[in-house]
Amino acid sequence: MKTKIFNGKRILIRKISQKDLRNVKKFQVFINSLVKERARILINKRISLKEEREWLKRLLQRTKKHEEVCLLAEFNNENVGSVNVEKGTHCQDHIGYFAISIKDGYRGIGLGTHMMKEIIKLAKKELRPKPKTIRLNVFQGNKSAQALYKKLGFRKVAKIPKQLQYKGKLEDEIVMLLDL
Ligand SMILES: CC(C)(COP(=O)(O)OP(=O)(O)OC[C@H]1O[C@@H](n2cnc3c(N)ncnc32)[C@H](O)[C@@H]1OP(=O)(O)O)[C@@H](O)C(=O)NCCC(=O)NCCS
Repeated sequence: MKTKIFNGKRILIRKISQKDLRNVKKFQVFINSLVKERARILINKRISLKEEREWLKRLLQRTKKHEEVCLLAEFNNENVGSVNVEKGTHCQDHIGYFAISIKDGYRGIGLGTHMMKEIIKLAKKELRPKPKTIRLNVFQGNKSAQALYKKLGFRKVAKIPKQLQYKGKLEDEIVMLLDL
């Protein structure tokens, strides 16, 4: 557990824990804030408390089994960021699938960069087997995310046409890799 100052805000970065099941609402509010602003993420419908609880339970089980790592950012007891790496299965268990979301109002202050660096360190330390590659998928139109990934050494390896629905249109999906 560590606090770090971003743009004058003291933000706590920590691993998720079993205790978070008492506060599923905080997770629901966070994800639904991204849904509401129509961020370029894979979820485009409001998540219910029940769905969020199931998601969190599964995530906690997977972290216990060294199949996934997740870090949260908290400010004033509110979730403001989340980042995770999920191990592939069987023939793909050398791949860590990466995802990140920072709440609107907390972007552009270095939080995403910091959380990404931390989760990659954690993935190398805790996932079994240790990943050889980190993979992510990003919407073609999500230029700020692509700039962040490029800055951290990810390279674009593929563009798959019309994979993602966004505001009534189909966007291409960009696949990026970071070899560890
Ligand atoms: C993409 C996202 C994770 C970036 O996180 P962040 O905390 O804002 O990132 P940082 O402040 O660390 O900035 C990292 C880099 O992103 C780029 N960036 C950030 N904001 C940007 C903007 N408004 N325009 C262009 N590039 C931008 C820059 O390259 C920046 O590096 P620099 O400051 O050294 O120039 C965040 O905007 C977010 O969660 N967006 C909504 C959800 C989402 O898109 N998730 C990713 C799905 S693939």
